[in-house]
Amino acid sequence: MFLANTMTEFILNTNDFESILVNKAQGSWIWDVKGKKYLDCTSGVWCLLIGHNHPKLIKTIKSQIDNLIHTNNRFLSPITLEAAERVLNFIPGNFDKITFLNSGSEAVEFSINLAKKITGRVDVLSLKDSYYGSYGTSKSLSYTSGKESKMKLQYRKCNSEECNCIEDLIPILDELLLAESIQPACFVLEPIMVSGGIHKPCKKYVEEVCNRIKNAGGLIISNEVTTGLGRSGKPFGFQHYNITPDIIVLGKGLGAGYPVSAIITRSELASKIPAEQKYYAQSHQLDPLGSAIANTVVRIIEEDEIIERSQEIISILEEFFGNLRHPSIKEIRQYGMIIGIQIQPYSSKNSSQLILEIKNRLLEEGIMIGLSLGKDLLRLLPPLNMSVEEVDFLKRKLTKVFDNLSP
Ligand SMILES: Cc1ncc(COP(=O)(O)O)c(C=O)c1O
Repeated sequence: MFLANTMTEFILNTNDFESILVNKAQGSWIWDVKGKKYLDCTSGVWCLLIGHNHPKLIKTIKSQIDNLIHTNNRFLSPITLEAAERVLNFIPGNFDKITFLNSGSEAVEFSINLAKKITGRVDVLSLKDSYYGSYGTSKSLSYTSGKESKMKLQYRKCNSEECNCIEDLIPILDELLLAESIQPACFVLEPIMVSGGIHKPCKKYVEEVCNRIKNAGGLIISNEVTTGLGRSGKPFGFQHYNITPDIIVLGKGLGAGYPVSAIITRSELASKIPAEQKYYAQSHQLDPLGSAIANTVVRIIEEDEIIERSQEIISILEEFFGNLRHPSIKEIRQYGMIIGIQIQPYSSKNSSQLILEIKNRLLEEGIMIGLSLGKDLLRLLPPLNMSVEEVDFLKRKLTKVFDNLSP
């Protein structure tokens, strides 16, 4: 058995790895190699809407592996056609074209390239705290690129009928579109900016930006890699706004831990460019195994009424987090099953020290929680189908850890 300290001898240090080694998982729980179990409030990397190893998904995976894992990308398989139909039927609006890819980054990158080809333009706009991916254009558009750009639009979180952000911020967009002659290929919206700090931009502002971009001939891409399939309390993040996207990007939850993503659009748009301009080839696009997984995940979400049932858990968590108080907590933001606890300096400790202490204490107590030191944030994105008992466990442990924070 490898021990954690010998493992890191061989693994490139692309991340700060925890000192425990994880071994197996079921539902909302993960076990380490010593047999200790943890409530996984990170859903892996926010991927497990339906929990770990859902029995229906395991059945699908086993039987698909027995049949067909991979084909040459010139050959489609029946399961890919079935998955395409099921995912399209699940999405509100008249979407009728889909392709399956592997990661969220790849699908966002693909969607932007598609928008550029359809519009014959290159300019891409986004909101400044968005995250789109780990490489290429999706990275350069993300807050993680570290580069400011007027194409990364400012926004506010006013979300009230009386807000005046439109009067302040829309002229800046108009200046870009008119005076600076930016010709938008697309506006890529992350409906709730999760990686960038768990921020929901003002509804009126987002709707106005989308109108302006559409009127200027650009497309609206809704990046639903994290918000899609129920994570934000609604089936899709764009449903928090009165907007109609042209392209939708899915990832993470679609594969429940397996790398499958998708981009979805309408034939009326896709047919604006010839087939050769849509050509795209990578080794695992439309693979039967990924398709079977996406198909079953959406089937489980429908059959098990995952989104409907999650509303009760969301309400319980809203009540708990609405009342959770500690001098180290600056603010708690919750959108469906996306929760951020903003930490501030307390006593002799700065936010980073507190975040690491809380994360470590929770780990000792059997809770896995996410964090962002750069954003002073503890992040919880638990599975949508966690039980009331599991929520109680989480509530008890969080209360204990905050109550016992050493000054
Ligand atoms: C909104 C959003 N888009 C894109 C990505 C990139 O997805 P992946 O890590 O699967 O490449 C992420 C990942 O966190 C994300 O949250």
